[in-house]
Amino acid sequence: MKHIDNIPSTPGKFKMEKSPYNRLRLHSSLAKLTFWSFVFLGLIFVFFYRSPSSSSTGSLPSDLSRRSLRTSSYGDPAWEKRIKASAKVRATNGMSVLVTGAAGFVGTHVSSALKRRGDGVLGLDNFNDYYDQSLKRARQALLERSGVYIVEGDINDVTLLKKLFDIVPFTHVMHLAAQAGVRYAMENPSSYVHSNIAGLVSVLEVCKSVNPQPAIVWASSSSVYGLNTKVPFSERDRTDNPASLYAATKKAGEEIAHTYNHIYGLSLTGLRFFTVYGPWGRPDMAYFFFTKDILKGKAIQIFEAPNHGTVARDFTYIDDIVKGCLAALDTAEKSTGSGGKKKGSAQLRVYNLGNTSPVPVSDLVSILERLLKVKAKRTIMKLPRNGDVQFTHANISLAQRELGYKPTTDLQTGLKKFVRWYLSYYGNGKKSAQ
Ligand SMILES: NC(=O)c1ccc[n+]([C@@H]2O[C@H](COP(=O)([O-])OP(=O)(O)OC[C@H]3O[C@@H](n4cnc5c(N)ncnc54)[C@H](O)[C@@H]3O)[C@@H](O)[C@H]2O)c1
Repeated sequence: MKHIDNIPSTPGKFKMEKSPYNRLRLHSSLAKLTFWSFVFLGLIFVFFYRSPSSSSTGSLPSDLSRRSLRTSSYGDPAWEKRIKASAKVRATNGMSVLVTGAAGFVGTHVSSALKRRGDGVLGLDNFNDYYDQSLKRARQALLERSGVYIVEGDINDVTLLKKLFDIVPFTHVMHLAAQAGVRYAMENPSSYVHSNIAGLVSVLEVCKSVNPQPAIVWASSSSVYGLNTKVPFSERDRTDNPASLYAATKKAGEEIAHTYNHIYGLSLTGLRFFTVYGPWGRPDMAYFFFTKDILKGKAIQIFEAPNHGTVARDFTYIDDIVKGCLAALDTAEKSTGSGGKKKGSAQLRVYNLGNTSPVPVSDLVSILERLLKVKAKRTIMKLPRNGDVQFTHANISLAQRELGYKPTTDLQTGLKKFVRWYLSYYGNGKKSAQ
């Protein structure tokens, strides 16, 4: 391999010598080069096959990225055909939207609403086991029936994301995939960093590099208001005292969004959802597991703040949230960059999407008792300091003004719809939520 030493440090200046001796040396060198190239390529193949993904960041408890590479059959024509069919725009002036977290609670509702009005929709979800996966599969089946395909993969899988953009030049990304829940952060903190920080960066990296760049609407959270005491929470308020790692990762997401808007001209809208509830909801949320436990005759814990302070939430019905998401997509301006370079300033927005009427958690339980016709066994507990805040209350005037957002469902009406769904889905308590 001595000849390698002869290559000048400026590669462009290297000239092949033409003597027979050199030709002989060249042949044997070529054979060696071919041999070592094969060895090298083999090693690369083994590395890619065994590692989670070339782009995967951080170590994951479960190797989700790897699974997506194996199951999503890159390049398979049938797979690409499904993707194209799902993302096909049917309405005049419709948009093609990549919905991350599509098998999730909000993702399912948003995907189905977009599809209904003729937009092209493709879902992406890693179907992780944070809560009952069969519920995610049931939502997937529901979407499948309305023509929405969910690609199974992780948002950290940059290769997969790029491939999806190669197949469909999405005009919009509705980014809902995240590790939700405040208490679970004490059990599995890295899942928050993986999905809410590294995952967001992966999505934005791909969005900034594709041409044309899509506009992005993504889910932040009311939890960014943390320990603030001034109510109702306004977008102008400070958000620098989060009470949980979940809140901190959402706050970090807002800062990351600012950066990608500033450097690459990505159009970014963050939506701060306030306690979303409704049919096909999340089993880790209080209204959901209270329903399950009340039906089972199991005691439920109701938290109380110091000095018998009320714990209250600005519960927001899913249909209102969906309207807010669609309005955010409809009013999103185009990103201004191309080829990874900013060409001008782009839109950067943050909105509260709440209901503006906080309800004490004990009232939520009373409504559930009436709807389920079962008396709850209540245990009053001190609000633990593990992420939950005492109350949330949204000021929604900005979303009202700029998105035309106007929630219309009160808690009583929304819970009635949730309970009806719960009883039909879990068969009047015969089949129980996990
Ligand atoms: N539901 C609420 O009350 C609420 C409130 C505030 C903010 N949010 C935010 O709204 C969004 C949607 O919430 P939701 O209630 O539908 O939660 P969800 O858990 O039901 O949905 C999130 C989906 O994302 C998927 N996912 C998670 N990490 C992923 C990854 N790395 N790659 C691919 N998919 C991944 C999950 O499998 C899940 O299906 C989340 O960003 C959440 O933080 C929700």
